[in-house]
Amino acid sequence: MRLAALLALTSPFSVAASLALQQRRLAAPDLQHVLANSERNHHGRPPLPVSPHRLTSSSSNSGLLAGFAAFGDSYSAGIGTGFDGKEDACRHGLHAHSRLIADDLSAIAGGRNNTAFQFLSCTGATTQEILSRGGGGGDESQIDAFNASLPADFALLSVGGNDLGFFDVINACVFRFYNFYSGTCEAALASTRAHIESDDFDNRLQVILLEILDRERWEKKPWFVITVTGYARFFNEVTDECDDMSFGVWWNGPKLKKELRLQMNAMVLAANAKIRRAVDGVNARFTEDKVLFVDYDKEFRGHRFCEENVTEPDYSRTDTWFFLIGGPDNARNDTLPKHAFELETLSSSSPLVDPSSCLEPAQKSGDWGELALCYMAMSRQRDPTLQLARGDFMAENSMWYVPTYYGKTFHPRSLGHEVMKNKIYEAWRTVY
Ligand SMILES: *[C@@H]1O[C@H](CO)[C@@H](O)[C@H](O)[C@H]1NC(C)=O
Ligand SMILES: *[C@@H]1O[C@H](CO)[C@@H](O)[C@H](O)[C@H]1NC(C)=O
Ligand SMILES: *[C@@H]1O[C@H](CO)[C@@H](O)[C@H](O)[C@H]1NC(C)=O
Ligand SMILES: *[C@@H]1O[C@H](CO)[C@@H](O)[C@H](O)[C@H]1NC(C)=O
Repeated sequence: MRLAALLALTSPFSVAASLALQQRRLAAPDLQHVLANSERNHHGRPPLPVSPHRLTSSSSNSGLLAGFAAFGDSYSAGIGTGFDGKEDACRHGLHAHSRLIADDLSAIAGGRNNTAFQFLSCTGATTQEILSRGGGGGDESQIDAFNASLPADFALLSVGGNDLGFFDVINACVFRFYNFYSGTCEAALASTRAHIESDDFDNRLQVILLEILDRERWEKKPWFVITVTGYARFFNEVTDECDDMSFGVWWNGPKLKKELRLQMNAMVLAANAKIRRAVDGVNARFTEDKVLFVDYDKEFRGHRFCEENVTEPDYSRTDTWFFLIGGPDNARNDTLPKHAFELETLSSSSPLVDPSSCLEPAQKSGDWGELALCYMAMSRQRDPTLQLARGDFMAENSMWYVPTYYGKTFHPRSLGHEVMKNKIYEAWRTVY
């Protein structure tokens, strides 16, 4: 019964869906009313789950209008999608889907910047770091940093890729930053499968969801829902061309064969299924769904790596919605300042990446970019004659040593985040 209700959320035409919708209407009649109004007042703007009380007081000039919090990893932080001034350590991007939603909320409020948006997501985050940093680090966890005194009408969450070992797979199977020492692709995939099969991730994800609901005192806020997003398959897995192409950073890197693309896509689908089950497990504890899983994978069809007639790596293809190493973003309006950096060479004596000491901090941060840079420096130290696969490209790109240069690969570009946002709105329309 619960499963049917959950599945119904993703298939608006089923009978179960309309039942779920009716339950919602009963649960939050004010919200339904306000959303209908906001839809009428703002043509084409998707309804947003903002608090009815605050929305109706939008003509007054007092205080904050609405709010939400975004928790999670780099897919939530929007790494690579632009920043103003200086990039922060969590690599929050200007076109992260959560930020786009905050902008829409602001627009509903007449362009006034009074949405309490708590952008807690951080590149490299695992479920553990959302719950408790622990140890001597002293850093707050995302849950600890969450200020429940600020208005929050909903929350967003993306987590799992770092728990399940996506970077290890992408490193071992695709880029091989640490060259021969990167481990085998098979071992990395097997390790990820083992993590997906174990209950640890599932349990921690459920604890995170319950913890957020608790802090928001869900029983007093019937409209409060946590929207959880998954991941999108990286590759078109049927095209022949890519069988001979490579993303490897060193000369003679691994080829993007169909079998590999298929296995990596299967990993993403298995991770999504796992996240959906955890969401299901939490919803089963309530009389109505408190968590919504939004699967945007199908929206990426035609926008993955290795699409028909594409010669990878294709740095000019705007229609690919994932970043390549050092590749440009594809924001519709890219007016962001281009940052100038001095060109440095990849040498083992680089003060930026010290191969003898970089690994521990890189592993601690979980930042894919820091890990990639460190592994590359370590490879070069072990074998100074190693040749980069695209040395020419690196030499022309003065930002090669900025971790984001690598860390953003296999993450959504701005057009991908836009589609994630729209898919979230579409899911909300079936619930609210
Ligand atoms: C909105 O307000 C926040 C916090 O006061 C500030 O950091 C941000 O730059 C503002 N955004 C705009 C578009 O004015
Ligand atoms: C939480 O937000 C409230 C309201 O803005 C503020 O007064 C308080 O200082 C914040 N708490 C923390 C720990 O930042
Ligand atoms: C790929 O190229 C072939 C031959 O030019 C063309 O027939 C086909 O429509 C192209 N496919 C896509 C998806 O562009
Ligand atoms: C895009 O750029 C145009 C022209 O510079 C500007 O008028 C418009 O507001 C921008 N749109 C967004 C969404 O930033």
